[in-house]
Amino acid sequence: MAGLTLRNVHKSFGKVKVIHGIDMEVENGEFIVIVGPSGCGKSTLLRMIAGLENVSDGDVLIDNLKVNDKEPMDRNIAMVFQNYALYPHMSVFNNMAYGLKIAGLPKSEIAERVRQGAMMLELDGLLDRKPRELSGGQRQRVAMGRAIVRQPAVFLFDEPLSNLDAKLRIQMRLEIKSLQQRLGTTSLFVTHDQIEAMTLADRMVVMNEGVAEQIGSPLDVFQKPETIFAAEFIGSPAMNIIKAISDGQSVKLENGTILKSLTQFNGEIWAGLRPEDLIPDKKGKIIMQIKMVEPIGASTILHGTLKNSDTQIVSMVQGLFNPRDRQPEMSFSISPEAIHLFNRDTGKRIDN
Ligand SMILES: Nc1ncnc2c1ncn2[C@@H]1O[C@H](COP(=O)(O)OP(=O)(O)O)[C@@H](O)[C@H]1O
Ligand SMILES: [Mg+2]
Repeated sequence: MAGLTLRNVHKSFGKVKVIHGIDMEVENGEFIVIVGPSGCGKSTLLRMIAGLENVSDGDVLIDNLKVNDKEPMDRNIAMVFQNYALYPHMSVFNNMAYGLKIAGLPKSEIAERVRQGAMMLELDGLLDRKPRELSGGQRQRVAMGRAIVRQPAVFLFDEPLSNLDAKLRIQMRLEIKSLQQRLGTTSLFVTHDQIEAMTLADRMVVMNEGVAEQIGSPLDVFQKPETIFAAEFIGSPAMNIIKAISDGQSVKLENGTILKSLTQFNGEIWAGLRPEDLIPDKKGKIIMQIKMVEPIGASTILHGTLKNSDTQIVSMVQGLFNPRDRQPEMSFSISPEAIHLFNRDTGKRIDN
């Protein structure tokens, strides 16, 4: 059964088109992450599902019921925002209880739901405090608690971790994931952070300028990006995208280096090489002039250019290099299966 369905959803603000027809079927209990750069329309999409923006064209269905014309309160959803949006003058208890009071639930039921939610989020000792008496992580937990007590059909999260420092963000990420697994509530989570997306998602939607570029499991998207955009956006350091050409037999870089054989395409191509797939190899054909060395702990990132070319390239090698021991030149090889190819006209993947 579908927890949430989007059918050809469009959004315009006046004459400006922001969402260009998104289709999505979210299964009951699934955790979907929408990931894309700032301004690509993630919040707008979420706000249309929540009923905070009207849909310009297309349908939104929750639990198989069309909700386009329903008020936010009647959609059986709960939303968690980046800025928490807690009521500053209310205690934690009242912040969590507020929506239930408005919905007219009996007092005893409200108290029980808040008690259970607070226990689940380890907020039970803090119910009398005001938001200003809480840490950032605790405030974020109250915002989550307020969503949980509603027992909605769908959770909507809009970058809920972006205001937290790096360490807390990772901790809260794990908490949200385990909470969602325990509750089994269909969830849609928006972020610009591709690592957050990879770690949280059952499936992710890579979004770019109001279009869903690819929908798939994190592994699918990483191993088989369908477009140049998805290829560059997912993975860190980002995939190298290098000009190449196919003559109907093999793919060559501009400096003549043959990358792999390819018979089903003739013409200009982008070759995508992940930095970690470039393996140091004295006999390797990809020769890099090293310009900068970045040790990051368990591995080292090397920045440079391809020999006899001004094409920039990045590789990531295992182990810690001392930047002072930098060699001017290093050669690499890459397994043919690790080379991604994209049509230069359409930006679409060429399967081979
Ligand atoms: N109320 C609005 N009126 C006009 N333009 C808007 C409005 N809300 C958002 N936009 C525009 O829609 C685009 C997508 O915004 P948004 O959904 O907030 O992106 P994201 O959440 O991915 O950063 C942006 O170009 C933004 O300026
Ligand atoms: Mg946003």
